[in-house]
Amino acid sequence: MDKTGKHSLQRDDIDNADHNSSGNPTFDAVLQARLSRRNILRGTVGGAATALLGSLSLTACGGSDDPAPTPPPVAPTETLLGFTAVGKSLADSVVLPAGYTASVIYALGDPLTAATGAYNNDGNDTDFENRAGDHHDGMEWFGLDADGAPSASATERGLLAVNHEATTDEQKSSFFLHADGGTATLPRPAAEVDKELAIHGIAVVEVSKASGDWAYVQDSTFNQRLTAISEIEIAGPARGHALLVTKYSTDGTLTRGTLNNCGTGKTPWGTFLTGEENWFGYFTRPVGDDAARGNDKSVTALKRYGRSEGAASRHGWETAGADDKYARWINALTGASASEDYRNELNGMGYIVEVDAYDKTVAAKKRTGLGRFAHESAAFGAVTEGEPLSVYMGDDSRGEYIYKYVSNAAWDAADAEAADRMAVGDKYLDDGKLYVAKFNADGSGEWVELAVANADIAGYSTYDFADQADVVVHARLAADAVGATKMDRPEWCSTNPANGEVYFALTNNTRRRVEPAAGEFAPDSANPRVYTDVKGGSSTSEGNPNGHIMRMKEGATVTAFAWDVYLFGAEASAAPGAVNLSKLTADQDFSSPDGLVFSRSTGICWFQTDDGAYTDVTNCMMLAGLPGEQGDGEKVMLSYDTAAGGTLEVDTYVGKAPTADTLKRFLVGPVGCEITGLAETPDGKAMFVNIQHPGENTAMADIGDASKYTSQWPSNAGYGSGLRPRSATIVITKDDGGRIGT
Ligand code: FEO
Ligand code: CA
Ligand code: CA
Repeated sequence: MDKTGKHSLQRDDIDNADHNSSGNPTFDAVLQARLSRRNILRGTVGGAATALLGSLSLTACGGSDDPAPTPPPVAPTETLLGFTAVGKSLADSVVLPAGYTASVIYALGDPLTAATGAYNNDGNDTDFENRAGDHHDGMEWFGLDADGAPSASATERGLLAVNHEATTDEQKSSFFLHADGGTATLPRPAAEVDKELAIHGIAVVEVSKASGDWAYVQDSTFNQRLTAISEIEIAGPARGHALLVTKYSTDGTLTRGTLNNCGTGKTPWGTFLTGEENWFGYFTRPVGDDAARGNDKSVTALKRYGRSEGAASRHGWETAGADDKYARWINALTGASASEDYRNELNGMGYIVEVDAYDKTVAAKKRTGLGRFAHESAAFGAVTEGEPLSVYMGDDSRGEYIYKYVSNAAWDAADAEAADRMAVGDKYLDDGKLYVAKFNADGSGEWVELAVANADIAGYSTYDFADQADVVVHARLAADAVGATKMDRPEWCSTNPANGEVYFALTNNTRRRVEPAAGEFAPDSANPRVYTDVKGGSSTSEGNPNGHIMRMKEGATVTAFAWDVYLFGAEASAAPGAVNLSKLTADQDFSSPDGLVFSRSTGICWFQTDDGAYTDVTNCMMLAGLPGEQGDGEKVMLSYDTAAGGTLEVDTYVGKAPTADTLKRFLVGPVGCEITGLAETPDGKAMFVNIQHPGENTAMADIGDASKYTSQWPSNAGYGSGLRPRSATIVITKDDGGRIGT
């Protein structure tokens, strides 16, 4: 944890993400099935807790992610993590410590214009282009002053830029959106597909305390939506490249839609960054397309990015009619040239997209220089006048990589206040170097630049890179070429405002094996655990089902770092020497960390779970940690028996074990949800968190019988019409008006 103080001009950060998983070297078409869970609906909750005065000294950790950090005063009575930890829970409600309150403020379907009707939540609602999307995920705060101007210090009025990642589905259909659950077979009706296209993407929604309590503002002129078919510009090294030429954009400068938006980021100049994660699954590619392409290098690339020929699309949107907005989901060579078909359509997805949350009239831009993969969050490192900007990013699939982008331009603090925010984005995000991480067994690491001139990339036998644009569009292949370290699903990252160290949630990897077969991964120092997790007394999963949180400290050069593991996820009862390496207690144990955000107000490391391994015992949760620093723990050797009777020894580096005062469970969500997204007002007194896909294990066949919905949240929390569960944003406040986490 940090102790004193004052981090300079650092405003990085971010958050979140969600679930999914895919294989490497080729993605699965189907997202990892969530294990089903039997939940006991108990009453509510809330830790009965008296205010516990911990022994920690207070952290005066100022800063915010806004251009002008305004460190809040530290109340002498505050104690970080002064709350009483909440227990694990299977209740269909949001559980918080005593002294805290959660209120729902923005749920699936909520109208975003004055003219849009109330959401009936019965499957008959339409006009989703003007409503909240589904599966709220990563989220950032953009303050507004009383006159509606951007403000870094505003605490009672602002915009939430919210990712709407996906939708709860079964057999193609987003069944909660359709009155009878929708169409399970192909072709899909256009009316259903139109709803599903519109509930994806992002939203910007105004929130305000003007009425006394936090609420969203239905008729705000700031409210905006981008959906799966909104026009977006291609920017950066791949703009105008042959790889981006389509029937829709014959000069390769435009595409449509942002999709499966998961983690987020906020730039030092006040724009929103959104990561496109599992976009590949929405496309299909017909059998025969490999041959039509002459089995050229595009086939190699498509397979590496998850689209083998014959792969079915997640929703069958391509079957809804001849209109181009449906046909574009068929990723096939059918014309005489790329400008006559959608052979390149997949190359328009997989980016960090920059959006001006303050101005819906400005075109969003896909920043291709930051690489193309299954993006999560984008976290800025320290922002220092005269120094380049760094952006950290993870690629969430099994065995994928951790990346860093470094701008060629040096930071000019005047850019934080620029009127043309997207032009500042052009300056810093379209011209830079992309690196990928290699973790060494001695605790050191190396950032390897993905440059077309790199001998391993130029000479790569699997794929013949044409130029640097080809490298960033196919960053995974370039990272393969340089031998980057295959990680246990890199999710969100965030930098510790106390010391600039970068934290990455590695959510899990059920394909780590001591002796891996094809598509599996051997343990290494940075991903060292292979074990068996038991769920519900019977089902088991192997590998690293509970995940861990990596911590990286930059070195003296742009290419050097040191690392250790802040925390290993585990059940408290798991073997301490092999699984529960961080010695988590029942108030601290967790599985599958996903969202991870350092508060700019308190410096607390908040992290959230998207789990399927521990959900027989508890719903997903959010914890609060006060970490130390890289290297504060010890080296541990894990020893595995091999089939031949030998031993495989793996060294790893475990951060100092948390105490009861430095790691506590703060929140547990309703049934079937993941907890994700975290934004806060600069004073740290209002925290916005997303509850994604409550009730997701409801069977499509049970639509119409609300008693069979596995969750009825948030209607059971008093929010909105209808009993169908809805993804939603909550705001958390402290009853005594203090900062969240104290
Ligand atoms: Fe959408 Fe990887 O979480
Ligand atoms: Ca997630
Ligand atoms: Ca278990």
